[in-house]
Amino acid sequence: MGVFNEGSHEQVVFCQDQASGLKAVIGIYSTALGPALGGTRFYPYPSEKEALHDVLELSRGMAYKNSLAGLDLGGGKAVIWGDPEQIKTEALLRAYGRFVQSLNGRYFTACDVGTYTWDMDQVAKETRFVTGRSLEHGGAGDSSILTAWGVFQGMRAAAEHRWGSPTLKARRVGVSGLGKVGKYLVGHLLEDGAEVVATDVSPKALEWAKTNHPDVNLVPDNTALVKSDIEVYAPCALGFALNDKTVRVLRAQIVAGAANNQLAHPGVDKLLMDRGILYAPDYCVNAGGVIQVADEIEGFNFERAKMRATKIFDTTKRILELADTEGISPATAADRIAEQRMADVGRLRSIRL
Ligand SMILES: NC(=O)c1ccc[n+]([C@@H]2O[C@H](COP(=O)([O-])OP(=O)(O)OC[C@H]3O[C@@H](n4cnc5c(N)ncnc54)[C@H](O)[C@@H]3O)[C@@H](O)[C@H]2O)c1
Repeated sequence: MGVFNEGSHEQVVFCQDQASGLKAVIGIYSTALGPALGGTRFYPYPSEKEALHDVLELSRGMAYKNSLAGLDLGGGKAVIWGDPEQIKTEALLRAYGRFVQSLNGRYFTACDVGTYTWDMDQVAKETRFVTGRSLEHGGAGDSSILTAWGVFQGMRAAAEHRWGSPTLKARRVGVSGLGKVGKYLVGHLLEDGAEVVATDVSPKALEWAKTNHPDVNLVPDNTALVKSDIEVYAPCALGFALNDKTVRVLRAQIVAGAANNQLAHPGVDKLLMDRGILYAPDYCVNAGGVIQVADEIEGFNFERAKMRATKIFDTTKRILELADTEGISPATAADRIAEQRMADVGRLRSIRL
């Protein structure tokens, strides 16, 4: 993808501070709905080209996610190029914070892979335009709490669409990945009366499940999970969970999970439709986290943020209904709704005040 493609990003900023070793790229896809919000990924990309590619893709994705979530925020993202284990220091994070500040509010940052709430506390020493800080510093804290809550709401909406009732009671739900989000999701599912089947590659995560939820049925790996007799599949580990191979053997009737970029390629949504599997789009159902950190901009209030994340139920239903009416995939329906809001609300700025 080129930076100057038609319909492409508004702004891409390259930031460097040699003394601290900071090399970062901030991508602003769109500010049609407000300042761009999206996390900072700290990752040892093999090349600058790959870092740039990632920030362009991720910032575009955030514009769609924020629009669909009803936030008055545009889409942006940043990457810091390097191994966080090796180069992350207070000076580097603060240098990064100064670059964020220099954009004067066009971009708000937050946590992502490789960055944590305490890192945002450091970034916040240099910029006002940061969310995802720790609770002690007035931040929204751990965003996986409302991410899981939102996924649960999206799943309930898909259950109502498919089975006529917004509950997972007595349904067999397969959760792949018992990390920060997966753990909370399992709690909501059990409370709702679901039977949970789960897997994780981490022995620690499996131990957590055995100790805290002995009723959860653990299976050896993801292949076993997708082939098992589950009715709902919740990918909560890495991206590309839905590929040609998994979709062919998947027994679930609904897919709703936290993982980003679940569709391995654009044709997978069609494969899901052909097999009659209802897909609740990833960036719709996993928006609870960004809703949580976005709330910090107003002064964090957990109950208000939770109320907003609960609306993921309505948004998921709207997507699934539009997909049915138009005969399109839910992924396409979600994109249409997100694009429509960016166009309709973004256009209002042409009304001169
Ligand atoms: N944390 C959030 O607020 C948030 C928000 C939106 C989207 N997401 C997405 O949700 C997913 C989970 O996020 P998280 O914060 O819980 O991450 P995490 O790193 O805490 O958990 C991921 C879990 O998946 C497990 N895992 C890795 N590979 C696996 C495999 N092949 N099979 C089974 N399990 C595997 C890991 O061992 C880990 O326990 C990610 O894709 C993330 O991008 C998270």
